[in-house]
Amino acid sequence: MFEQLQQLPADPILGLMGLFARDANPHKVDLGVGVYKTETGLTPVLDAIKRAEQALVAEQTSKVYVGPAGNLAFLQSMMVLLLGEHQAQNLQPRLATLQTPGGCGALRVAAELIKKARPEASIWVSDPTWGNHIPLLGNAGIRIKTYPYFDASRNALAVDAMMDALSQVPAGDLVLLHGCCHNPTGVDLQPAHWQQIADLAAQRGFVPFVDMAYQGFGEGLDEDAYGLRLLMAQLPEVLFAVSCSKNFGLYRERVGLVGLLNHTAAGATAVMSHLTSIVRGIYSMPPDHGAELVARVLQSPELTALWRQELVDMRERIQGLRMAFVAGMNSRGAAGRFDFIAQQRGMFSFLGLSEAQVAQLAKISSIYLLGSSRASIAGLNHANLGYVCDAVARII
Ligand code: LMR
Repeated sequence: MFEQLQQLPADPILGLMGLFARDANPHKVDLGVGVYKTETGLTPVLDAIKRAEQALVAEQTSKVYVGPAGNLAFLQSMMVLLLGEHQAQNLQPRLATLQTPGGCGALRVAAELIKKARPEASIWVSDPTWGNHIPLLGNAGIRIKTYPYFDASRNALAVDAMMDALSQVPAGDLVLLHGCCHNPTGVDLQPAHWQQIADLAAQRGFVPFVDMAYQGFGEGLDEDAYGLRLLMAQLPEVLFAVSCSKNFGLYRERVGLVGLLNHTAAGATAVMSHLTSIVRGIYSMPPDHGAELVARVLQSPELTALWRQELVDMRERIQGLRMAFVAGMNSRGAAGRFDFIAQQRGMFSFLGLSEAQVAQLAKISSIYLLGSSRASIAGLNHANLGYVCDAVARII
């Protein structure tokens, strides 16, 4: 029965991890998958998480099921982190939230919810968007459409084209927005853009769907939630998917949540019953471990302070690398060409190279980035920066 299945090509992002691992060149550099790395190339367990984990191991008395909605303390603390104390409290009756296996789980459960509510709806995603958005949402059977986002000639937001496209989105469709640290471009919406989108959503009747995978990696925890908070304050319905992989360093623990701000409290209760029924039919209940760690960090003032500092350190290190890369390229005869990288935020930027140049970088120098020339900036460090700049300067 299964012998008819043909081998599929590797996933464009995860496949790079395998290529990198198999490369024997001691100078190899991984700028592929979006994981934070230290100066020595490690993706560490954060100290705040380690301490929460030690306490959890010592104190946990049961591994009984948590239920389909997941860890309630996690959900409550995360909503405060996302919305701030005041807005989280005000909107709480209209919110349906459910813990999911990672941000990917959140996106997929959201897609299943959309299918139940309005199977004919389309989701509009930015062009470009994170490669896995399309399979996560599309494999659920939802139609995907795109809106322009990135102007490659200026390495900047294609703001007019984007707003033109969004002003045509019909009522009942959804518009997927990256809450901060746009993946793959590193180009974020500014406060005025969020307001324009909120106005368009109100006029047209589309529902914003915010993917928040990097809160704290852009400008700061509150600054990065600006857009989500604004939409939540002004619109009757907002769908959101959240990942704790990057900001809590919990990648493999698969910690995330899906939520919907509803018109009414009764609507939120109904949506909650659908969310729990959807996940009961897929994986039944989420794993608890990572979510419990996040809850413990966010409910302890001491661990929260430690975690916030660790997050600042990660963000500032990436920002420092952005500036060091630009300086490195400027001093290698590419003055001005890469300045935009220092203005962009989060884990990624496009280097503006062709696919052939990207392939050459891998072949000649064992430097791995996505074919689109998306580079995960955290893969740079002061030991490999000169090597990478030399290699890029050679091929441009
Ligand atoms: C990335 O974009 O590299 C990360 O979000 C990891 C992934 O799962 O694709």
